[in-house]
Amino acid sequence: MTAPFLPFTRPSIDEETIAEVANVLRSGWITSGPKVQAFEAALSDYCGGRPVRVFNSGTATLEVALRLAKVGAGATVITTPLTWVATANVILEVGATPVFVDIDPVTRNIDLDLLDDAITAETRAVIPVDLAGLPVDRDRLYAIAAKHNLRVIEDAAQAFGSQWHGKPIGSSGDFVSFSFHANKNLTTGEGGALVLPADIDPALCERLRLQGVKRFPDGSMDVDVLGGKSNLTDIAAAIGLGQLKHLAAFTERRRALARRYFERLDPSLGLELPPANFENSNWHMFQPLLPDGTDRGAFVAAMKERGIGVGVHYPALHLFSLYRKLGFAPGDFPVAEDIGRRTVTLPLFPAMTDDDVERVVEAVKKCLANR
Ligand SMILES: Cc1ncc(COP(=O)(O)O)c(C=O)c1O
Repeated sequence: MTAPFLPFTRPSIDEETIAEVANVLRSGWITSGPKVQAFEAALSDYCGGRPVRVFNSGTATLEVALRLAKVGAGATVITTPLTWVATANVILEVGATPVFVDIDPVTRNIDLDLLDDAITAETRAVIPVDLAGLPVDRDRLYAIAAKHNLRVIEDAAQAFGSQWHGKPIGSSGDFVSFSFHANKNLTTGEGGALVLPADIDPALCERLRLQGVKRFPDGSMDVDVLGGKSNLTDIAAAIGLGQLKHLAAFTERRRALARRYFERLDPSLGLELPPANFENSNWHMFQPLLPDGTDRGAFVAAMKERGIGVGVHYPALHLFSLYRKLGFAPGDFPVAEDIGRRTVTLPLFPAMTDDDVERVVEAVKKCLANR
């Protein structure tokens, strides 16, 4: 019997959550309502009491954070070229200019040694990304931001469940943005959450999320700011509430699976493994780099033939046509380009078994031997 296809990720949704979703569907109120409020309260609790507002994506959260930080035309925003393209797209969306800083070859996150030199009089904000859930060094990051009076919008889309100095990412810092996309460690199908700093009015954040509408107790309304439409539904919030109960167990299981990969992937294969961080990372993804000269497309296809899904997260984004049109070119960020060419995402999700890891490791061995 051939083993079933093993995807690189798969959400774990329990029966209790499915029943809760059904309850919402039967309740007569399916858009933003009591479940959204309960989800926001639970997330705020998780983030040490900081205000949290939920959205229909982790892209909307980033865009609203930029607007709340008053970043727009004439401003530049610094970020990493090795991230999901959403991180840079939102900078363009608000009319600002993205400036990329190459990545650290070890952490694969923005290289903080290069950050200082990239800051100019036009720089308003920095968007660090915790790739694969490995946190950017928050101590160094915030020291640099404070020195230059910059706002920080943490793109922690992949870092829900990660920690810094033993505290959850989200419990400190400036703006912190999470994604609850289907692949994330905690999912609502699609969704996101924005943790707000103390100087930002949560009511303004709510208006930016829903057409700028301000409602008064007498039933009247006004619109005093241009808002979009990015509220989360109660259906999605019910999923998020169900997921939160398992977050600690999910993270623990992911860490155990990652450890197993480290134990089982033989150094002679020539793979470059990610930093073995079991303290801070939530192991959102397990991403070895293929040996130089490996045809990644052929490797991914060969793994698929063996029933194993492999992802690519991500090619360096400044080489996408849209960004080349803005003037970016090959050679601009050599570390991101090299890692973007060689990275692969192996299966890692809480429901995976130890035997699944064995299966992946054996397939990797065979596919690399045949290259
Ligand atoms: C680093 C990063 N930033 C932003 C996003 C955007 O989140 P969403 O897909 O929820 O809009 C993602 C989602 O994949 C991401 O991984």
